[in-house]
Amino acid sequence: MKTETMGNLRRTDYCGGLRTGDCGREVTVCGFVQRQRDLGQLIFIDLRDRTGLLQLCFDDNTDREIFSKAFQIRSEYVLMAKGKIRERSSVNPELPTGEIELFVDELRVLSQAETPPFEILPDSGVKEDLRLKYRFLDLRRPDLQGALITRHKITKCARDYFDRQGFIDIETPMLIKSTPEGARDYLVPSRVQQGSFFALPQSPQLYKQLLMVAGFDRYFQIAKCFRDEDLRADRQPEFTQIDIEMSFVGEDEVMSVNEGFIKEVFREILDTDIPTPFPRMPYREAMDRFGSDKPDIRFGMELCDLSGILSGCEARVFRGALDAGGCVRGINVKGGAGVYTRKEIDKLIEWIKAYGAKGLAYTRITPDAVSSSFEKFLSEAETENVRRALNAETGDLLLLVADADSAVVFDSLGALRIHTAKRLDIIDENRFAFLWVTDFPLVEYDAEEQRFTAKHHPFTSPKDEDLPLLETDIAAVRAKAYDMVLNGTEIGGGSVRINDIELQNRMFDALGFERQDAENRFGFLLNAFKYGVPPHGGMAYGLDRLVMLMLKKESIRDVMAYPKVASSGELMSGAPSGVDGKQLGELGIKIASAEE
Ligand code: AMO
Repeated sequence: MKTETMGNLRRTDYCGGLRTGDCGREVTVCGFVQRQRDLGQLIFIDLRDRTGLLQLCFDDNTDREIFSKAFQIRSEYVLMAKGKIRERSSVNPELPTGEIELFVDELRVLSQAETPPFEILPDSGVKEDLRLKYRFLDLRRPDLQGALITRHKITKCARDYFDRQGFIDIETPMLIKSTPEGARDYLVPSRVQQGSFFALPQSPQLYKQLLMVAGFDRYFQIAKCFRDEDLRADRQPEFTQIDIEMSFVGEDEVMSVNEGFIKEVFREILDTDIPTPFPRMPYREAMDRFGSDKPDIRFGMELCDLSGILSGCEARVFRGALDAGGCVRGINVKGGAGVYTRKEIDKLIEWIKAYGAKGLAYTRITPDAVSSSFEKFLSEAETENVRRALNAETGDLLLLVADADSAVVFDSLGALRIHTAKRLDIIDENRFAFLWVTDFPLVEYDAEEQRFTAKHHPFTSPKDEDLPLLETDIAAVRAKAYDMVLNGTEIGGGSVRINDIELQNRMFDALGFERQDAENRFGFLLNAFKYGVPPHGGMAYGLDRLVMLMLKKESIRDVMAYPKVASSGELMSGAPSGVDGKQLGELGIKIASAEE
């Protein structure tokens, strides 16, 4: 079969938009063959473009040459077809174009196609690795096309909204100075200055702050960011932020501009009203109540501190944790006794170990019996008090974690809360529950480096009232930092920055940066601070995460055109790959293992 050119044919319509009102019209459509059905005297071809499917029909009245061409058409061939739209004899109610078909009088085979490694279907059930290797075919699937088209609408909405709010879109560089704090940098060797490296930006943070120093007042960018960290369902080494920064503002103004954006984007894209302002919850409260700094507030099952009740108890697991300065907390999985058998509770006990918990204590209250791993070690009053604190009733499953390290208790119970809620199917998947988590601690302890590091970044301003603690009790200092949380995922975060060089230096001292080190890494920012810096603050959204949640997808890979896999590689192109010796030589680089 010969491949043809478009010749003088030009597309007049997309496939998916045609309806009965178009009957009688002469149209030209193009696209890929979804499938060809040969019924002897009759051939049907479903033609697919990004808007949908259209049935092409070839029958007795079709020119014989065209009919025999149609006979040879296979899936994924690229066609152009001209003809008249007419009503179908048998309607397909599943298809928006199901009442009509195109009776073809001109057909061009623009490209032939080998049999694809998987069929192009909405939910192909094909393994993701294969889909990613043939991403260009995977991207032909309507759900992925739909996701990327919605992503486009979301970025367009962002540009329109922030433009109307007076934000200026400014591109910041991709090749920048390496100033790692947080994730690892991706490095790019300089050819001109051998032995020196650029880094790809983890975010435009310093450059956007410098734009405030430059007087732009309101900055906005849809920015590519790069972080060399382990992949997860909501994390990629290369991802996109909607990044903003504003001058002469405090936390409230940044939050309210962003609530406005969310309201608009949900209305435009999903026709959903998101009530504003969003609830706010200080970090400490989020941890205490939900064991997480990004709580899913679509359901209760809050953590309950049982340390007081159990402070005098005999049970070794609880005593040990409490004596070592830790805590005991629990959740009540309402109705969980009927769902979790003994065997399944054993599985939970194994599962929770991944979160650092050494074990899980439980009480399972069925209508016939109570089985508990710990009540036998408690007094009657203690048992009663634990049950009352957890509001226990027949049918409930009480799950308790004790640990010398309270962080382990929060992490593991926080995760267990989500895990059991999913199993019990008590989460309202139709809700979008937004929340600001505020007042984050300024620093966190890095056990590996044995020092405090900035929880957000070192330019985040401490709360004014906590400033005196900077040198005396830095762990207690709260930051002017906020995260936007949606259904248990952090979709954005930001802060009000330090705009005073004295305070910035105090901050570096408190974080244990040598002055020289701070100067080497951030000298350009500190230098700028000498020349007049407006108070400023901002935030950045993970665009991929926002799109994922809006479309209720499981992974950000489902809303990115070319995502990477766990090895940080890209399966389609095979990146990363070796480069030839000449290229390395020009960069003055030798691979260590090759030297031996
Ligand atoms: P932060 O590091 O919190 O803040 O990042 C902002 C948002 O970016 C998203 N995000 C990611 N998405 C996908 N893959 C990743 N590896 C990844 N890492 C982060 C998250 C997160 O909330 N410069 C500051 C912002 C500011 O202070 O203005 C910053 O980058 O949704």
